[in-house]
Amino acid sequence: GEMTPRDRLGRPLRDLRISVMDRCNFRCPYCMPESTYHENFRFLAANERLSFDEIERVARIAAELGVTKLRLTGGEPLLRPDLPVLIARLVGLPGIEDVALTTNGVLLARQAEALKAAGLHRVTVSLDSLDPETFARLSGGRAQLDAVLEGIDAADAAAFPGGIKLNTVVQRGINDTGVFDLLDQFRHRDITVRFIEYMDVGNRNGWVRDEVVSSRELRDRIDTRWPLEPLSPRYRGEVARRYRYADGAGEIGFISSVSAPFCGDCSRARLSSDGQIYTCLFATKGTDLRAVLRAQEDDASLRGILSQVWRERGDRYSEERAERRAAHSDEKIEMHYIGG
Ligand code: GTP
Ligand code: 5AD
Ligand code: SF4
Ligand code: SF4
Repeated sequence: GEMTPRDRLGRPLRDLRISVMDRCNFRCPYCMPESTYHENFRFLAANERLSFDEIERVARIAAELGVTKLRLTGGEPLLRPDLPVLIARLVGLPGIEDVALTTNGVLLARQAEALKAAGLHRVTVSLDSLDPETFARLSGGRAQLDAVLEGIDAADAAAFPGGIKLNTVVQRGINDTGVFDLLDQFRHRDITVRFIEYMDVGNRNGWVRDEVVSSRELRDRIDTRWPLEPLSPRYRGEVARRYRYADGAGEIGFISSVSAPFCGDCSRARLSSDGQIYTCLFATKGTDLRAVLRAQEDDASLRGILSQVWRERGDRYSEERAERRAAHSDEKIEMHYIGG
């Protein structure tokens, strides 16, 4: 509507990604390596995290400013106690059309039914490998592959109206030879696998460009085994490029943040678990909404602040990286903190 702010590049605010929990029960080396996130790492205390009331309030005001899509992330969102209670409140907000969850899947078998009953529209499970040893290494030795597969099956059985997607971050020499196994397992099952180019997110993942497998290379490799046909985007700014198998086995996607940045249509804001709002996945500095929430400010001033943060936004990090290429020495925010 009329209230919708545009940022400095003319982009509207449509998508709010909410981290509900900074902790994770995995220690993926590219995200929360054990060496940093050890026993003595200081995670947030419960009262430092936004409460459900506070999250709902930010989401309601964001919806008034044009947000239609919410995604709950972490860390691992299913570690947040009573998450279905929050979901039930978010799906009922005026203007909210789509509420999704990104999870590592390990607690999903236990929670899928309750999430569905709460009204969650769809689920995205991060799964980088079907090889038990590679999986163990990539989760930092914290989980069993079987638990995640049971979680996916439980989500399938729960029949979320928006379906299930799998996100696979591809790293050359680590899991890139396993992509055929993954596709083989989920073809014909109405579960969309999406391959993500490995990004230089956070400060700790030791990103080297050689480890990135470009979407084009991967698509060509897959196409020789199972011919692919491109699909047109479902909406402006869709992150994944979609393809369908020519043999009718379903759909797959490629997220090319490194080789083909998509900042031009980026309408995403991110809310960290302690209530900072970030206007880019790679932002170094957020705006403290928690202080505003806890200072008993009224809705109008909260709306004003959020709207101003968005109007001042000029972020286009991935495009700049593509232009400069040497950006990975910059200080950046950690992904587990801000949510993928
Ligand atoms: P759908 O609505 O299901 O298509 O999901 P989505 O497009 O919001 O994608 P999802 O949240 O599943 O994100 C998948 C991955 O894409 C993330 O884990 C990131 O690696 C990458 N990604 C998502 N959003 C952004 C973004 O704004 N910038 C960059 N650089 N990468 C992103
Ligand atoms: N590059 C691309 N995707 C990443 N994710 C985490 N770190 C990276 C990275 N460096 C993804 C996870 C998960 C989502 C939360 O973010 O694999 O799908
Ligand atoms: Fe791995 Fe996701 Fe947890 Fe990060 S938040 S350690 S990517 S499971
Ligand atoms: Fe959006 Fe920043 Fe990602 Fe570009 S790099 S798509 S501006 S979050």
